[in-house]
Formats: sequence, C-alpha cells, structure tokens
Amino acid sequence: MPQVNAGAPSENFFLNGNFSPVAEERDAEEMEVIGSIPQDLAGHFLRIGPNPVYVFSEEAYHTFDGDGMIHAIEFDNGSARYRNRFVQNEGFKLEQERGDWIYKGMNSMMDPTPPRVPEGAPTGKNLANTAFAYHNNTLYALHEPSQPTIIGLPDLTTIGTTDFNGKLTHPFTAHPKVDGKSGEMMTYGYSFMSEPYVTYSVINAEGELVHSTPVTIPKPVFMHDFAASEKYSVFLDFPITLDIERAISGGPALGFEADHGSRIGLLPRHGTDADIQWFEVETGVVVHTANAWDDGDELILQASRSINADIAGAGTSEGNNLSENQGKLYEWRLNTKTGEVAERTLSDFPCDFTRVNDVYACHATRYVYAAVFNPTRPFTFDGVMKYDNTEDSTEVFRFGENRHGGEAVFAPKVDAKEEDDGYLICFVHDEARDQSECQIIDARDVVAGPVARIIMPFRVPYGFHSGWVSANS
Ligand SMILES: [Fe+2]
Repeated sequence: MPQVNAGAPSENFFLNGNFSPVAEERDAEEMEVIGSIPQDLAGHFLRIGPNPVYVFSEEAYHTFDGDGMIHAIEFDNGSARYRNRFVQNEGFKLEQERGDWIYKGMNSMMDPTPPRVPEGAPTGKNLANTAFAYHNNTLYALHEPSQPTIIGLPDLTTIGTTDFNGKLTHPFTAHPKVDGKSGEMMTYGYSFMSEPYVTYSVINAEGELVHSTPVTIPKPVFMHDFAASEKYSVFLDFPITLDIERAISGGPALGFEADHGSRIGLLPRHGTDADIQWFEVETGVVVHTANAWDDGDELILQASRSINADIAGAGTSEGNNLSENQGKLYEWRLNTKTGEVAERTLSDFPCDFTRVNDVYACHATRYVYAAVFNPTRPFTFDGVMKYDNTEDSTEVFRFGENRHGGEAVFAPKVDAKEEDDGYLICFVHDEARDQSECQIIDARDVVAGPVARIIMPFRVPYGFHSGWVSANS
C-alpha cells in the first residue's frame, strides 16, 4: 500500500476512526471556546503521536510505526493558537521525495520484500513520534531507538537530531527525567541486538552530556521507561523480552515472559554499573512510571503496573485479556539499607500515561495524574484521574459517551504556589460527532470537568504523549 488514505475507514484498528492520520498541516486562531481559557495559563500545550503518510502494508501497520506529528496549542492571556506539524527527519523526507514507502515497519521485519533504503541513508527511520522532553531551553521530540530531535517553538519546525556533540553513544529513551531542582536530565537507551543492553547517561543543566555507564541486565528487554529520584536512577528489568525462537514458533517476537521475573535496579545518579543495587519484585509489566523520590533509606517508585502486556499487538491481539494488560497505579518502597521491598496497588482504576507536576519530578510528589482506560477497547481512554498520596484517594472525570482522550499533561499556573496549582490539558474526540476539542481542567477540581473546551476546527487523531512548556521557562 503506498499512501494512507487519511480519515478513511480501515480494517487496521490503528488506521481507523480517530486513529486515522490527518493529511495536512494547519493553523487556527479565533477558535470557539465553551467556558473560558484561564488568564493564568501561558505556554505551549504539545501532543505528539504517529501520523503515517506512506506504509508498506496497511494490514501489518503497527501504531509505533507512524511518522511523528505534533499538535500544539499556544496559550497567552486567555487566547489560544493551534498548529500541527510533521516532524521532518531524514527518513520522512526521503519517503516524501519518493512518494512511497521506504521503511517497512516493525510487523514486517520478517517479510522477504527488501527495504528501499538508499545508500548512505539511515537504516532505521527516526520517527520522533512518542514523547517530549524540555531541557536547557530546548524542546526534544523523542523516539526510543533514535537520537532526540530538536523542535523549534512556537512554530514546531524540525531543527534536527542531536548526539550531544558526539557524546551520545546510545539510543535515547522517549522518557528521560529532568530533575526539577538540579536541572540535570537523566536518560538511557536499550538495545535488543548487542551488549550492553542498556546504557545510561546524565546531561547537566547546561545541556552537556557529562556521564555515561553501561547497565548490565541478563537479556534484552523492552524498557520503555525508567525513573529517577534525587539520589538514584531506577531501572526496570521487567519481562517483556525479545525472543526470536518464540517468533519462529508463531508467538510474538516481543512478548511477556513470566519466567524472566522482575527486578528494579537503583543506580546512584553519577554511579557506574558496579554500584547498582537490584531488588526482586513481584512479576508484572510497567510501561510508564509516574515519579520516584527518596524517603530516608527508602526509594519510592510509583507507576502504572499491569499483570501482563500485549506490546506486539498494542492491545489488539486476538484473545488478548485487556483487564490483565491495563495497568493500575502501584507503589514500590525499596529499602537500600535492608534490601526489603514493600509493594502495593494504590488505586483500582485501570490507567496509564501517568504524570506528575514536572516542577517536582525526582522529588516527593503528593499527586499523580493519569488517563483512565476504557475497559473494553484497546488503547482507548475515557477520562482523567488524580490520585492523592496523602488522602489515599482517587478523583476521576469521565469525558462522556463516545468521547475519548489521551494523556493529560499538568500545566502549572503562572504564579503557582502549590503542587496542584495548575491545569490538566488534553485533547478529547467525540466519535459520534467526529469532533475534536481541547479540554482544560482545573487540577484542584478534576471532578468538575473542564473550565474550558476549545472546539477544534480540524480533527486531532489519538496519539501518544503530551508535553507542556511554560512561557517563562
Ligand atoms: Fe511512553
């Protein structure tokens, strides 16, 4: 199949309905608003996701394969301005020039059709479709097998990829952690093919990569996220493994392997491989963490954790048990002196896309925000939740019938004093009316629902992660 027919129905779940891409880059101002946009909201709301243009096979297309597209709303003094732009890395531009696919995608790796990568071009496509980081006044669009892509604000131009002056020797996770106080950015990359399977780096507040070390794990695993406290960087050696023999015998190449067990490793922020302390924990799956912090001798990690996972099918595999692979908010307390582990479920709502107020990242947080899963349809979110560690309580706002969203990001108010002094912002799509909107929810009153709904003049497809860049940052 050459070009995806944007907006047309498809047999592929991730090319159908509001998962279907949009074809055009647009701009909009003067949009209809229900309610009013807060005056104390100033900055850029960003949402990134897969928006495929050319695909090798419609049937085999995987949602991780789509070209990155950013949808952004710039807020200033109660006004809103929308833009959407492709991330234009080299692989994207080569396919644009050719007018057809060049790279095949993750479900077609075993297909005998040769790829069409021209000599000298990157062997993989840096899709930059997954998540953002904002560090040292620089916005990055991220894709875990690749280098970070620098994006210009406010116009979302692709400035280019970076290897931090030649010092970055490994792929760069989509989920680095920026310490809200020290300004350091902790990152890592993982490899399925060769040791070290994990390499970790620290980038200082001025944007210089100052420390790297391998992290030894026994076999390659899908390690989509990690965590960092003030003292430690936290690695999850959890059992989504790559197994070619399993693939040859008809199973998924990337699949859940309970026998692998689950371990959490604590690496002192500037430490090396030999310094890591590993803790055996109950076997499960973590796709996204929320935050980690130090409490005396203990490291506290909070994340969405599921019993199982369907990474290869992104939740759509036949016979897949959604209740087992939708995570719930979970906590581990790891005692670095005694080696003891205490772990528990914090909230019963199935959720993912866990977030905290980024200003407090790597330090103690009272609140976790997350997207609440639809329990019957894969990769579908029906609302947002706020978990309160002090009260051990969860508040939920549901978008309503036929209305689904994605990751809500926390945007602090201009003069925020408290941790939850801000707004949750996310895109929501009404599938019955085929109408997208941007919702702004007061984080101190989640149950009340949005204080503003910006009615989007163009469809905004479902995507992956959101980001927020304050105007004064
Ligand atoms: Fe992610």
